[in-house]
Amino acid sequence: MTASAITGGFAEGLWCLSTPNSSYVLAIAADGRLVQLHWGARLSPGDGSRLGEAAAVPPYQLPLESQEPLPVDGGLRWGPPSLQIAFPGGVRSLELKLVDDVAAAAPGTHRLDLVLADTHFPLQVVLHHRVRDDSDVIERWVTLRHTADSGEPLRIIRADSGNWLIPQLGDYRYSVVSGGYYAEGQLRRGRLPDGEYRLTSRTGITAHHANPWMMIDDGTATEAHGPVWSVALAWSGSWRLTAHRHFQGRAAVSAGFGHDGLSWPLDPGAELTTPPILGLYTDGGFGAASRGWHQYARAHVLPHPGEDRPVLYNSWEAVEFNVDETAQLDLARRAADIGVELFVIDDGWFSTRTSDRSGLGDWWPNPGRFPNGLATVARHVHQLGMRFGVWVEPEMVNPDSELYRAYPDWVMHFPHRRRDELRRQLVLNFARADVRAWAIDWLDRFVTDNDVDYLKWDMNRGFSQAGWPERGDAQDWLWIDHTRGVYEVIDQLRARHPALRIESCAGGGGRLDFGILARTDQVWPSDNTDAYQRQSIQHGLSQLYPATVMSAWVTDKPYSRDEQRNQYAYHVAMAGVLGIGSNLSAWTDGRHEQARRNIALYKQIRAIVQRGAQYRVGDPPGAGLTAIQYLLGDETVVFVYRPRAEVTPDPDTVRLAGLDPNATYTDPDTGTVALGRTLMSAGLPVCSRLPAGDWASAVIRFNRTG
Ligand code: DGJ
Repeated sequence: MTASAITGGFAEGLWCLSTPNSSYVLAIAADGRLVQLHWGARLSPGDGSRLGEAAAVPPYQLPLESQEPLPVDGGLRWGPPSLQIAFPGGVRSLELKLVDDVAAAAPGTHRLDLVLADTHFPLQVVLHHRVRDDSDVIERWVTLRHTADSGEPLRIIRADSGNWLIPQLGDYRYSVVSGGYYAEGQLRRGRLPDGEYRLTSRTGITAHHANPWMMIDDGTATEAHGPVWSVALAWSGSWRLTAHRHFQGRAAVSAGFGHDGLSWPLDPGAELTTPPILGLYTDGGFGAASRGWHQYARAHVLPHPGEDRPVLYNSWEAVEFNVDETAQLDLARRAADIGVELFVIDDGWFSTRTSDRSGLGDWWPNPGRFPNGLATVARHVHQLGMRFGVWVEPEMVNPDSELYRAYPDWVMHFPHRRRDELRRQLVLNFARADVRAWAIDWLDRFVTDNDVDYLKWDMNRGFSQAGWPERGDAQDWLWIDHTRGVYEVIDQLRARHPALRIESCAGGGGRLDFGILARTDQVWPSDNTDAYQRQSIQHGLSQLYPATVMSAWVTDKPYSRDEQRNQYAYHVAMAGVLGIGSNLSAWTDGRHEQARRNIALYKQIRAIVQRGAQYRVGDPPGAGLTAIQYLLGDETVVFVYRPRAEVTPDPDTVRLAGLDPNATYTDPDTGTVALGRTLMSAGLPVCSRLPAGDWASAVIRFNRTG
């Protein structure tokens, strides 16, 4: 791999940032603006200076401010601003000048800070960049600094983390995920329209209906071929991403936290640092883009990427709120018997929480349901050889709770406005230091006292009436500081309990992004556990996020007497982090045996699934023959799915990828031997491996043997 590098400097008026396979070039244009000259294939040293001038703009045309890494609201610019500030006296129109550059190198990384200052007002804007030796992801973020010691605040109206110019292409196509609760992560591709195409979350969390990333290609890229530019925001609160396509033939993508209509006063001496915006260029199609993101997540985001995720059992789908010591211990014994390694009690274990009506906020075991406390349950679960996990929803309160009765002002609220409940709950304002202190205190004691190994951290509603009256004019900070507060509580908890592992959940997949993944270990992608529908959810999420974060349970939804259909559900779940969510107490012996067999197989292959490179080698989910291959070192595993026995003939081979063409591979289950070249060009015949009829699926393994 070629190492990362940053060349150039103020003297040249040009900076070239290179990852192993890509370069990103910024330069000072003739009019003094900082502009992006290149983002694409890696350039050789010196190539940057031959890139020429930024595109000139004839009068009457829209200026191409989308070339700028952070187009401001100011001067002759009329596109969507990435940075918008109101200065004292209501003055708008930023006038920034580049005043300094600071480059630094550390083992494996290079960093560049470009410092801009307003020509009159006390505002400094620092554009931060980082490239790494082992990834093509370029990290950028921004710091805004009010440089006066006293005086009036500046009002920030928009503070994106960065704008990325996409080079001139014949056409522009976007790839994004859309969806909703129970339908997260649905992959959508379409022609980028002229004008602005905006994705946003106003919910206070990442959201179910969209995810803060976009890929752009020229309309011809495939899974395995073609240049693809992708941009992702590492943030778990509200966000906005705008793709701006000019009629003149350019497109750019700008993204950052917050959403339209908010503003944040920045006091003298204060600063605001944005979350990172990440950019990845590849010429290897969507598959290579996904593998680039997965590798980045493992190398630089996830806290414990090298750990095998345990097979878990979760009580929610089986019994919902009806949890008690006797039934949970019965489930635990059955779970241990089939090979489960982590037993998680979901909602319903605490205070008066027997439905969604009451109890959120009162985090002590329900004495009627757990008369001996949770520590006793934990001891039994540990004795059964499993780890012990518990569901919590720390950001929420039911109005019918002791916590709310004692601290009604802890929730987000405005005077003279309703407090709209959703799922009968309100949102605690984690921007408040006292709320965070309360949360850290009870979570810390709870984990210690009950020997908890794993928390499923849920968050079941978006913000509404998101006010914080004590902060007056500054209360919009809540939209940023709640998310930062959640990060802080999780970070402190993890620091105090290094062995604790956390699953991020927000009514299913409402909080999945590179911000939360830096402090959680896996994610609950959706409450939809129907295996067939899950496939498209997993397909969408896999565009950016690796299988190691994708919890996937086999549940009784839909329960089938057809063993083949149940087996299909295992194979879908085994392409992520396998879990079981069924009511084991109601299972037949046959289902226990099926689970035991599949869990044992999953334990053999999970390192490949969770840590391997992923290749989507079949049709997209929905019809035909879907296939996902994972490859780790000398071992590969392929999941093949044919949900419907179609009238039209299905393809009967799957071409594998990423193998050594000259190596010999052996299937340990059948003894079949094949050359890597054969498996990748002629393909792997799968028909004989698939049972007849609907819901046909198979797991096929190959190990390098020569
Ligand atoms: C929503 C989650 O997505 C479910 O898995 C479950 O934990 C419920 N909340 C519990 O209230």
